[in-house]
Amino acid sequence: MSGLLDGKIAIVTGGSKGIGYSIAERFLKEGAKVIICSRSKAELSTAASKLGCDFHQLDVSDSSGVKSMSEWFSKEHGKLDILVNNAGLIRPGRITKTTEEDWDLQINVNLKGPYLMSNNFLPHMNTGGAILNISSTVGLRAMKGAAAYCASKGGVVNLTRAMALDLAGKIRVNCICPAVVDTPMVDERVQAGSVSREVLDNVQPIGRMGKPEEIAAMALHLCGPEAEWTTGSIITVDGGQTAA
Ligand SMILES: NC(=O)c1ccc[n+]([C@@H]2O[C@H](COP(=O)([O-])OP(=O)(O)OC[C@H]3O[C@@H](n4cnc5c(N)ncnc54)[C@H](OP(=O)(O)O)[C@@H]3O)[C@@H](O)[C@H]2O)c1
Repeated sequence: MSGLLDGKIAIVTGGSKGIGYSIAERFLKEGAKVIICSRSKAELSTAASKLGCDFHQLDVSDSSGVKSMSEWFSKEHGKLDILVNNAGLIRPGRITKTTEEDWDLQINVNLKGPYLMSNNFLPHMNTGGAILNISSTVGLRAMKGAAAYCASKGGVVNLTRAMALDLAGKIRVNCICPAVVDTPMVDERVQAGSVSREVLDNVQPIGRMGKPEEIAAMALHLCGPEAEWTTGSIITVDGGQTAA
């Protein structure tokens, strides 16, 4: 059976769970070879064996780790076609409660991570390739109590546009801004009692959280052959949240 990504090789950061896992799963179904990466080796190897793909342990905010992964990749696999900068984390806190440590963590993982990955992997990418950044609807409009997270995701939106201009005609660069998606990131907040699933469902006019597969479907479109004229685009996949 032929797939939309036959013969392509993709890296998905944060591929051990949530949105990244679903993107990896969808790309594999469409014929791509996929390498997932994240920090926890145990979770990575479990996810990789479930998916049937390769993995590489990596903290995307660690510049020497990213550099050595790019050198390893080039020796082992040659050229890359698709880079998905999905790894991210949230440490809620309004501006007066945001410690410098929480600020640095979120900016380093969510914003510097995509820069480091793109900067190190671009020399190893095939012309015609695609980079996809995962931001958030809070990269376009803020929410209370998440100052550093909002700042990091706003940065990812404009980094996408800047990279698309720098790389036009060679590599396409696009961005998805999801609203609330039902993943371990969200479940952690529910388990901690900081918010209920009902409240999170109703953040979207459609009345429910998104499913990771719904983000993966857009990821496939943006990284696949049907979006060859799409670059610098910031696409909301948000159950109508930003329509309000
Ligand atoms: N879920 C939502 O409602 C939502 C909404 C809008 C945007 N997003 C964004 O979508 C992306 C995925 O979120 P998710 O909900 O799927 O989160 P998740 O379930 O918490 O998964 C996050 C993934 O990122 C990895 N990761 C975290 N820090 C990392 C680092 N420093 N280096 C490498 N990997 C790292 C995690 O593994 P390790 O912890 O083992 O490293 C895990 O694989 C994030 O960028 C998030 O901000 C999510």
